Amino acid sequence: MTKTESRPLDVIVAGEANPDLILTSVPPLELDQEKLARDMYLVLGGSSAITAHNLARLGARTGFVGVVGDDFLGRFIEEKLRAAGVDLSFLRKLPRAKTGLTVWHTRGRRRAGVTFLGAIARLRAAHVPSRYLARARHLHVGAYFLLENLQPELPRLFRRARRLGLTTSLDCNYDPREQWDSGLHQTLALTDVFFPNEDEARRITGLRDLRAAARQLARHARIVVVKRGARGVLVAAGDRLFRVPAVKTRVVETTGAGDSFNAGFLARFVRGASLEECAAAGVRAGARAVTRVGGTTAFEE
Ligand SMILES: Nc1ncnc2c1ncn2[C@@H]1O[C@H](COP(=O)(O)OP(=O)(O)O)[C@@H](O)[C@H]1O
Ligand SMILES: [Mg+2]
Repeated sequence: MTKTESRPLDVIVAGEANPDLILTSVPPLELDQEKLARDMYLVLGGSSAITAHNLARLGARTGFVGVVGDDFLGRFIEEKLRAAGVDLSFLRKLPRAKTGLTVWHTRGRRRAGVTFLGAIARLRAAHVPSRYLARARHLHVGAYFLLENLQPELPRLFRRARRLGLTTSLDCNYDPREQWDSGLHQTLALTDVFFPNEDEARRITGLRDLRAAARQLARHARIVVVKRGARGVLVAAGDRLFRVPAVKTRVVETTGAGDSFNAGFLARFVRGASLEECAAAGVRAGARAVTRVGGTTAFEE
């Protein structure tokens, strides 16, 4: 394999970036009625952008490729990622597109979200040039199911990345269309680490039994890490299947826990750490994320 130690970037993250508007203690909404939230937070969102931000804050040299609109929310994203030290040479601003936005309504530990995709879905494989990939060691893509233009091109992008000596990882996140396929398996076959949560792993495989679901996914991707909230993770790779418990912590808000887990895991993975070490770093990062509102707040300090 190509030697990649001397490359200037550890990880390129390609995917969606959008602000998350988080409204807390929201009662159930009803048409024709107005309710009050207790508080609101406008934070960096998007699985991919959160992973990129937190990777950089954990010391990995990170670049982000994504598409935003040339608007206030796009500038907000740029500022947040730049402040974390993320390389933005290939962040695209499309003049006539709107930056995507997710509004989360939270109540206790539960949350409901609605996303306007805007520029998010416009990301294409061609936005990730080979000359940029050749500067990094690993390519991560988050929120597979939201990246509608990228989905059919992703097998080729991952193949291109591997040819250039990079390893690959993928987080699918929730499928708002609830189809749970969209050609995912073609990409999994070219994926080194796949990061679904337990609900997603069950829906993709159609299997209730989580161990069976993890094993089944590990027949496609090389390593599968199933995230289980306060229960930690289940890791499947080849014949191996093991659990890593979560780190006990005071939970404030869980948006971005999974994306932060990815960051913790990958920060070690690119340094050649063992699977156990990667997963342990992942659960530490996930636990850190839930101590503050939003996916990156705890990593800004
Ligand atoms: N309540 C919690 N206490 C401690 N760690 C947590 C908690 N919730 C999440 N985490 C950590 O973050 C990881 C990812 O969170 P999870 O909710 O499973 O992912 P996602 O956000 O993708 O649904 C978990 O595997 C765990 O390590
Ligand atoms: Mg997730």
